[in-house]
Amino acid sequence: MKFEEKHEDNGSLVGWSQPYPGEKHHTNGKPAANGKAEVCVKRETNGKHDVHRKSLNMYTWQEIQRHNQEADQWLVINRKVYDVTSWADRHPGGRRVLNHYAGEDATDAFRAMHLDLDIVKLFLKSLLIGELAPGEPSQERNKNPHLVEDFQELRRTLEAMNMFDASLGFFFLHLAQILILEVLAWLILCYFGSGWPATIFISFLLTISQAQSSFLQHDTGHLSIFKKSKWNHLMHKFVMCHLKGLSANWWNYRHFQHHVKPNIYPKDPDIDMGPLFLLGDSQPVK
Ligand code: HEM
Repeated sequence: MKFEEKHEDNGSLVGWSQPYPGEKHHTNGKPAANGKAEVCVKRETNGKHDVHRKSLNMYTWQEIQRHNQEADQWLVINRKVYDVTSWADRHPGGRRVLNHYAGEDATDAFRAMHLDLDIVKLFLKSLLIGELAPGEPSQERNKNPHLVEDFQELRRTLEAMNMFDASLGFFFLHLAQILILEVLAWLILCYFGSGWPATIFISFLLTISQAQSSFLQHDTGHLSIFKKSKWNHLMHKFVMCHLKGLSANWWNYRHFQHHVKPNIYPKDPDIDMGPLFLLGDSQPVK
């Protein structure tokens, strides 16, 4: 297939077949006989067109699914095939989440995990190696396409309802409530000492504040409060590390994996509780 894309110097990506809102995609052309697609990339610099040509291979799912190892991992996003083998160690979201999708379609997980697609697209360009051959489904053949379509429809509906736009006022009050309870506990300790009644009352206040901090750290860890991931990370570190005394990175490392492969053993670390809870020979097998 030969197609042509406008590729402006702001880093927009090559070959984005199902553009997200705000992205432009122009294609025209016919399949090439050798199973390769020729991409014509136009860069606009100071009003001049600098045209690069780059060959894109066509792949079947059978071929893509062979590249499902750490030492050889490809994944598919919006029908484009990316070889992430040598880049996986540099992925800001960690090597593991990429490897969980090696040899698979990662479109929805990719969409869910990146707040700022403009940053991400800068990296995508160099990893692109081809696209799904015409006639190949957009997901692996063993995935139920109706479920995938339902999920994408749900996401579109929630986006249209602005359900991903967090209310900063709500989260500000949530944080204020936690801080007030913490300060109150310290003040009670200062003024009333560490007798039993004061200690029990302080425990009550701190239990509420710690429980509320858990909810807040979860939302910040999900990067769901601010539009920029760095602000979410900063607040996550404050709540998780300073208020709760736990590692924000440890939580993200596990929780991102949990959400990219929820309840899928052994990829989801949250259900990998074997060493703690499974006893004997038959329980682990079940
Ligand atoms: C080859 C495709 C991919 C590229 C080029 C890419 C690139 C990036 C970049 C640049 C960031 C940093 C974003 C920021 O700081 O705002 C990031 C973060 C992340 N990515 Fe990817 N990514 C890819 C695929 C995936 C996939 C398939 C998943 C999930 C299965 C994933 C999960 C994550 C997660 C969990 C983060 C951490 C989010 C954060 O801390 O801000 N990525 N990725």
